Amino acid sequence: MSLRGKHIVLCVSGGIAAYKAVELCRLLVDAGAHVAPVMTADAEHFIGKTTLSALASEPVHTTLWNDSDPIPHTRLAQRADLIVVAPATARVIGSYAAGISSEFLTATLIATRAPVLVCPAMHTEMWEHPAVQENIATLRRRGVHILEPETGRLAGGDVGAGRLAEPQHIFSQIDAMLSPGDLYGTHVVVTAGGTREPIDAVRVIANRSTGKQGYAIAQEAALRGAKVTLITTVDLATPFGVDRVAVETAQQLSDAVMQVRASADVIVMAAAVADVRPKHQASHKLKKDPATGEIPGLGAIELEATPDILAALGAAKEVHQVVVGFAAETENLVAHAQMKLERKGADLIVANDVSQAGVGFAHDTNAVTLVSRGSQPVEVVLADKRSIARSVLDAVVAIRSARTN
Ligand code: CTP
Repeated sequence: MSLRGKHIVLCVSGGIAAYKAVELCRLLVDAGAHVAPVMTADAEHFIGKTTLSALASEPVHTTLWNDSDPIPHTRLAQRADLIVVAPATARVIGSYAAGISSEFLTATLIATRAPVLVCPAMHTEMWEHPAVQENIATLRRRGVHILEPETGRLAGGDVGAGRLAEPQHIFSQIDAMLSPGDLYGTHVVVTAGGTREPIDAVRVIANRSTGKQGYAIAQEAALRGAKVTLITTVDLATPFGVDRVAVETAQQLSDAVMQVRASADVIVMAAAVADVRPKHQASHKLKKDPATGEIPGLGAIELEATPDILAALGAAKEVHQVVVGFAAETENLVAHAQMKLERKGADLIVANDVSQAGVGFAHDTNAVTLVSRGSQPVEVVLADKRSIARSVLDAVVAIRSARTN
């Protein structure tokens, strides 16, 4: 990863996570970037100016009132290829959203035309406050990239959402924002999560899918330059640059996929779609018969097949489209995946051996075998779901480039 010749303004505001900005600065400088650091007065309570000045490419900027350079913020703002705010406090996010430029950091943000990456960090209660969430939504709407905070240990020993993303993760986002990416110009549609099929007003047929693998694929595709539509049954943090469509049932998922199908170059069916649904859905709650203790209508639920979305996509595939399916197997992984590839007209099947420890649903890790037409199956060993996502997209890119060569 080379950021040689790139001018990056690293803005640090006053939160305990300011110490992570030091590591981020080092990663950026090591990758060849010219890093101009900016700190708020509050940030100086957490890290020393000397530390950042020593690691960065020029001394830290803190004040608008500098005799030797009357307009330092506009000079920095115009020269920047990218501005990153890490950590971004609730105050800085609020000032930026409201267009208030009361000190160097926010003045620089408002003066720039460069892409901006904001990495919030604060206590969960603050992060979830409607004022902060509305400011974040405003910035997103204006095209600012938001790298959502992670869930974990916070200052004072609390645990929750609000922890600054790890420096390596912020670095990868910056690198992706500054490189065109091998999926640039494509539209990638990803489905994620398990569908829920209503039995009555309160009961559903569901499955254990958490949606994490689908989200990871959506996030990696966006990082690689794709326009991404994520159709999902689960409500995890939306990765930046990703359009999210919320659905619940197999039918809704099918309708949402069919609506965007025509413009898609790649469709990844990572969702665990229920194969069957109750034929009749009661609009009220089915009640126990007090005399027998039984629930009429629940004993023998009549089921019917849901639409097979992957098969429909495979059958109606356009020449430029790559259709990817998933398979959860417990035996004869490759043979079953090859059959599924043919039966559903897919280009790639991502097969998990769900009998293995740490694989598949509800884990943060996965191990898969990638089965496509005309090449040997590729085994991807146990790794976190983002690494698996990268391998799946590498295979997609290979299929696309084999077609054009
Ligand atoms: N799928 C779909 N529509 C359905 C069911 C499944 O699009 N109604 C997709 C899933 O998103 C996944 C793939 O098909 O990409 C899984 O195929 P499926 O036949 O459901 O796999 P398994 O349940 O693993 O099948 P098997 O019956 O072969 O065990």
